[in-house]
Amino acid sequence: MKPFEEIKPQQSLELLKELHILTRDGKINQDSRRKLKQVYHLYQFIESILTEVSGDDLPFHLVDHGSGKSYLGFILYDLYIKLTKGRVTSIEINEKLVRQAEALAKKLGFDEMKFVQSDVAKSLELIPEDIDIVTALHACDIATDDAIRFGIQKKAQWIIVIPCCQAEIARCLKKQKTKTLHKPLSELWRHPLHTREMGSHLTNVLRCLQLESQGYQVTVTELVGWEHSMKNELIIAKFIGQKNNKSKSRIEKILDEFQLQELQSKFLG
Ligand SMILES: C[S@@+](CC[C@H](N)C(=O)[O-])C[C@H]1O[C@@H](n2cnc3c(N)ncnc32)[C@H](O)[C@@H]1O
Repeated sequence: MKPFEEIKPQQSLELLKELHILTRDGKINQDSRRKLKQVYHLYQFIESILTEVSGDDLPFHLVDHGSGKSYLGFILYDLYIKLTKGRVTSIEINEKLVRQAEALAKKLGFDEMKFVQSDVAKSLELIPEDIDIVTALHACDIATDDAIRFGIQKKAQWIIVIPCCQAEIARCLKKQKTKTLHKPLSELWRHPLHTREMGSHLTNVLRCLQLESQGYQVTVTELVGWEHSMKNELIIAKFIGQKNNKSKSRIEKILDEFQLQELQSKFLG
């Protein structure tokens, strides 16, 4: 692939240099090509959603949680959002990353990008306005759960998450092991490695059921081509306003089955 075939005409070369996707002399940085491909891949899923929410030149607001260097926010803004009435707010706990991203947005004149230093769990009160799209790309551990809760409470039209590793359920599974080992199915989580994998899988299953129980239609897919990352499960939830009681009852039953009742308020609240 020739370098500039990967860069879209509307993209800011200045931004791509700042993100180290391009070298100072304008060549693709081979180390960053992978990251660019990953974000483009995700963009293929998000583009139609952005088109929908920005239809008829409507204003819209995207909040990206656990944004790190705001790579995703910058690329989405540069590729699409800057040409619309949309705006982006990035939430990140690390003050230094927030200030760096803020300075970059200022330098590039990306006026509709805002950066908030906060724990995702505490961000609800900091952002009073309506939100259309919530994203969380590899937001660590329970930050993904907090991002989902934020989206649900905001009744965001779309919640899009690519979860990172999640340790909370694995911890609970481990704690309850003696109570569940009599069940043949406990073989699925008896060995410590399986406890971790099962915990992670179970978490995503419960997240999907939670979203359905709160009125979302959920699609789970793989970010195919994301060959360098093990964390490539993409959960896309669209608000349809119909709460699914069957999903709610399945959450209750699954938590009972795994002796995880302590997590009821997290997934049923
Ligand atoms: C693996 S990085 C992903 C960054 C970015 N989304 C990306 O994909 O390039 C996870 C980021 O989430 C942030 N983070 C972790 N827990 C958080 C929390 N509870 N609230 C806000 N940010 C959090 C970390 O500081 C880190 O920058």
